Amino acid sequence: MSHIFITHGPRDVDALLTVHEVMRQASIQTWYAPPGSDGEADPAQINQAIDNAAGMVVLVSASSTRSNAVQAQLQRALDRGLTLFPIRVDNGRLSRFFKSALADKLTDAISDEGALERLATACRERYQRRCPVIAVMNLKGGIGKTTVSSQVFGAWQTSLGGRTLLIDLDPQYNLTQTFFDMDHADASAARDKSVISLFERSRLHAPEATSPADNWSNFSTEPFAPAPTETITHNLLTPDGPGGRLDLISGQFEISKYAFAPSPQTLALVGSNFRRMIDHYRSEYDLIIFDTNPNATFLTRCALEASDHVLAPMHADVYSLRGVRLLNQVIEEQVSADMRPALSVLFNAVGRSEQSNFEADARNGAFDEQAGFALSKALLSSALPKSGHLVVRSPEEGDAPWQQLVIHRGRGGGLKSIRQTLNTIALELKKLVEG
Ligand SMILES: Nc1ncnc2c1ncn2[C@@H]1O[C@H](COP(=O)(O)OP(=O)(O)OP(=O)(O)O)[C@@H](O)[C@H]1O
Ligand SMILES: [Mg+2]
Repeated sequence: MSHIFITHGPRDVDALLTVHEVMRQASIQTWYAPPGSDGEADPAQINQAIDNAAGMVVLVSASSTRSNAVQAQLQRALDRGLTLFPIRVDNGRLSRFFKSALADKLTDAISDEGALERLATACRERYQRRCPVIAVMNLKGGIGKTTVSSQVFGAWQTSLGGRTLLIDLDPQYNLTQTFFDMDHADASAARDKSVISLFERSRLHAPEATSPADNWSNFSTEPFAPAPTETITHNLLTPDGPGGRLDLISGQFEISKYAFAPSPQTLALVGSNFRRMIDHYRSEYDLIIFDTNPNATFLTRCALEASDHVLAPMHADVYSLRGVRLLNQVIEEQVSADMRPALSVLFNAVGRSEQSNFEADARNGAFDEQAGFALSKALLSSALPKSGHLVVRSPEEGDAPWQQLVIHRGRGGGLKSIRQTLNTIALELKKLVEG
């Protein structure tokens, strides 16, 4: 569980203690720079606490509006897309910055009747929210699932803020290799700091446990609590980089072992462990993305049952069409109604010439019958073009993981337009999943 960050001016000690107490009674964890430490608290630690927060309470006072530290914290929260909960402490004049950042949200003063209860309720709702989970999936290989998982959702995190978790559910673990070299990925898996720890009890949960990756015929039935995010995830946005939270649970080949499980009961247990873990991490992030394998396996079922949306990238060709047809069939026939995710389709790597025909026909409903569902309605109106910038390239030694993201690449021919497209797709998706 993360926390609610409270930003306060140096003279807001009474208000800070009042709000802290209200939050404590509502069982909401809080984080704030110790009173009196304005300007002295470690900025790196403060930034980290803001990046990890579920929201920010802003104590609005004569003291806080004049504080450079509060302004910096508020700016970081705005940049990260954090939900803000401002509350007036006194009648101090708002600075221009406070006005533009908060004016429309500033409805309550701390002394108003019921104001603190309203604040606690709003924070609790935010704090307990379960974020959207999107599985990037198509039962067809090589159509851009991994590219979309990294580039579209990397752009989402950068442009729309929030804390995003990428999970590599494909035993080929290409998403992990997008950001890290093989040795790093394998060394991490060798410590169970990897996706297998979402399915079975591992050394990440108990040092004395045996690694579930070591023995393909042994399936742990021991219960386990979710590993703290800092032990299971890799931060892709390193401190020297753009800031914010984009984390990865790295993949590994050994999750293929579930194809060889001895009994349906074992798989049911492993699957329910996975859903329980995702449920837990949903309260710690604003968005969770699964990159998935191209064939229908136990892992496909896990991804479908734990997600509320499926995004299927497709090429403008009949093979991809068949892939989404099969995918829709699997969703309709194999996933029970209470767990069934909604399906959206994104055209990927469409060149100009094909675009005119296949894509236009698909949008006009010409393939709805062949797809077995209303493909024309499931299609995102934006599409990802074929672009040299999106061709996968292995990380070079010394590269930070975030440097693999097109959204953070420097200048170059066509980069501006591809970044705009990535942002447009991210925005359309956000409206879809949050609408
Ligand atoms: N829009 C694009 N423009 C140019 N190249 C692309 C684009 N999308 C994907 N590619 C390239 O196509 C290849 C396949 O893409 P990717 O690995 O994302 O597909 P996938 O569906 O994840 O494959 P798999 O089924 O093996 O997991 C990669 O080399 C990638 O760089
Ligand atoms: Mg892939």
